[in-house]
Amino acid sequence: MKWQLDKKAIIVGVTGSIAAYKACAVVRDLIRAGAEVRVVMTKAAQKFVAPLTFETLTGHEVVTELFPAHKVVKTRHIHWAEWADCILVSPATANMVAKVATGIADDFLSTLITATRCPVLFAPAMDYQMAVNSIYLENCEKLKNLGYGFIDPEEGELASGAIGPGRLASNDRIFHAVASQVLKSNQMQGKRVLVTAGPTQEPIDPVRYISNASSGKMGFALAEAAFLRGADVTLIHGPSDLNTFAGIQATSIRTAEQMAQEVRKHWPDHDLLIMAAAVSDFTPVQSSKQKIKKSDADITLQLKRTEDIIQSAATEKGNRVVVGFALETEDGERHAREKLQAKKLDLICLNDATEAGAGFYTDTNRVTLIDKAGNIKQLDLMSKQDTASHILDAIENLKKGQSVHAES
Ligand SMILES: Cc1cc2nc3c(=O)[nH]c(=O)nc-3n(C[C@H](O)[C@H](O)[C@H](O)COP(=O)(O)O)c2cc1C
Repeated sequence: MKWQLDKKAIIVGVTGSIAAYKACAVVRDLIRAGAEVRVVMTKAAQKFVAPLTFETLTGHEVVTELFPAHKVVKTRHIHWAEWADCILVSPATANMVAKVATGIADDFLSTLITATRCPVLFAPAMDYQMAVNSIYLENCEKLKNLGYGFIDPEEGELASGAIGPGRLASNDRIFHAVASQVLKSNQMQGKRVLVTAGPTQEPIDPVRYISNASSGKMGFALAEAAFLRGADVTLIHGPSDLNTFAGIQATSIRTAEQMAQEVRKHWPDHDLLIMAAAVSDFTPVQSSKQKIKKSDADITLQLKRTEDIIQSAATEKGNRVVVGFALETEDGERHAREKLQAKKLDLICLNDATEAGAGFYTDTNRVTLIDKAGNIKQLDLMSKQDTASHILDAIENLKKGQSVHAES
């Protein structure tokens, strides 16, 4: 589940790189997220992918000509330039970067970019010899200094078979760059937010461990919601396949002990801690250096308590805010209230692991918020992104001295 880009107007410019086929998946991701997408293709791009592909995906005519024959288009490049919330050039050729950097406007895409005032993002793709060409690099530098966004290419296997820089950024990175461009606000600007997410793994031996089914989705959504509101966000997460926004400072850990160390290290520099990680409460007393051999006899695993990270952080919080999560399977409200009080939290987010669509695994959640004054608010079943936004609203209300009930 991705951030929703409802009704955001996005123009995708496709240029003549072998990576043009990858633009199809990017366009799909944007449409799935609710964006209104229009596609512009250069002549060279049409050598790689047919306009029909994008017409079918978007349901709109693809613009390929500045001066189409037999059509009255008036000043379409100006109307489109005004319509767009963001122009994404993906893939962007060295040629298109050079044209924009030097103010050349000799086809629809370069003319559109010259005419627009909306943010323009380039996702370049090219073979490594082109990617290290100093004129190309100088053009990128010039555009970056002028405020154009770049989703820098990655190192990896290239179409030529070579391995090196120039590979188009992943679809997720491209989506995140567009989402961050069109969704970002400054509501939490200047705030430093520390979020934990995902499970921990407690090794029994080199190949076995104790863990839980946390996907990290709720914690990642909270970190991203804070980031999109302009906060400086540090995310400490256990093993997870999720990708996040480039602007979030993400650190990956494995064990509860490593999670505790990272929280200790970062908490002094943050204003708000949201502990959404499912940290293991127990860890093996001893982790075997060698794989434990199978035998006919049963074995007993002795476990010890791990550090109560949120409790330690809450004791040092001063005027800062600490938010915890309670995942329960029975008598949830009572357990959540006990945890809230015992750990002196400002807010607890309760979810029921047994409820369909809530808790681990899912893209949705149904959370009950209980604030330190004991006020309770049940959120509806919704995406984890929307849940995260509601939790941040509740935190903002608490900071203003209001209860979780206050409308933002
Ligand atoms: C097979 C093939 C693959 C190409 N791949 C790239 C590429 O990945 N990146 C790039 O900058 N140029 C690439 N080019 C060169 C561009 O297509 C060429 O510079 C063209 O003029 C770009 O036009 P445009 O920027 O208007 O799309 C490729 C050319 C060919 C023949």
